[in-house]
Amino acid sequence: MRHLMSPLDFSVEELDKLLDLASDIEANPKKYAHACDGKKLATLFYEPSTRTRLSHEAAMLNLGGSIMGFSSAESSSAAKGESVSDTIRTISCYADICAMRHPKEGAPMVACQHSSIPVINAGDGGHQHPTQTLTDLMTIRSLKGHLGNMTIGLCGDLKFGRTVHSLINALVRYPGMKFVLISPEELRLPGYIRHDVLEKNHVPYEEVVRLEDALPDLDLLYMTRVQKERFFNEEDYVRMKDFYILDAKKMKLAKDDMYVLHPLPRVNEISTEVDDDPRAAYFKQMQYGVYVRMALILTLLEIEV
Ligand code: CP
Repeated sequence: MRHLMSPLDFSVEELDKLLDLASDIEANPKKYAHACDGKKLATLFYEPSTRTRLSHEAAMLNLGGSIMGFSSAESSSAAKGESVSDTIRTISCYADICAMRHPKEGAPMVACQHSSIPVINAGDGGHQHPTQTLTDLMTIRSLKGHLGNMTIGLCGDLKFGRTVHSLINALVRYPGMKFVLISPEELRLPGYIRHDVLEKNHVPYEEVVRLEDALPDLDLLYMTRVQKERFFNEEDYVRMKDFYILDAKKMKLAKDDMYVLHPLPRVNEISTEVDDDPRAAYFKQMQYGVYVRMALILTLLEIEV
């Protein structure tokens, strides 16, 4: 039985296969409409979510399966003090596969150690968000035609932004990658990722503070919001939250084919005036999230169509 805790749980070849399957699902949705008849997905969300929870649910429904779950810790027995390990033992009796989001780093890992069904990490604290990475990889491959050989700017809250941590882990395995890390000093990428992931893999990167300085050289810009829920005090968040605002004027500095991605939700970091720019790819990106999660459910349940 396999789980998905980190993008590194899949080899590059397995990721390619999964993305191929997601593309086939996009092109031929009817072929997969009954692939999960009789199967049940549980979504165990101890933290708020719109896209990740509902796209997992849409994925299972599109495959002919059923869904159950909770969308906050307060509406589950966690509010009465139940542990993650006891909850997953319970869910293993009711469902065939589950997706878990939790504010504590490592909670889905604890779950998979006590689970008899596949567990998908749907985001754990400031650590990892591997299904967002699958979505991002499908988006990049669709827009650029390939993965690798590009300069990607990662902008915003690189300290707490788990989507960025997972994406870097996945992309360093492709050749010719270069990263431009765009953040204020206080929200720099954690040292363990700079040293253990980028430097260890000899992947070139530079750190800059001004988005304008980085924009002309980028093939792709990955914007992130400042993660309000991870700050210890409101004052620091308020000071940081509007540090970057991508607008139409800044987009003029970028290449004609520099696509803009964002895991969403957006707050102020991308002005709505950018939404109509043909390089704005973040709404397409969230649509891809359903296809990759359909492909992931099929892969983890070992269902071939
Ligand atoms: N991208 C993402 O994780 O969005 P949600 O928080 O809405 O699930």
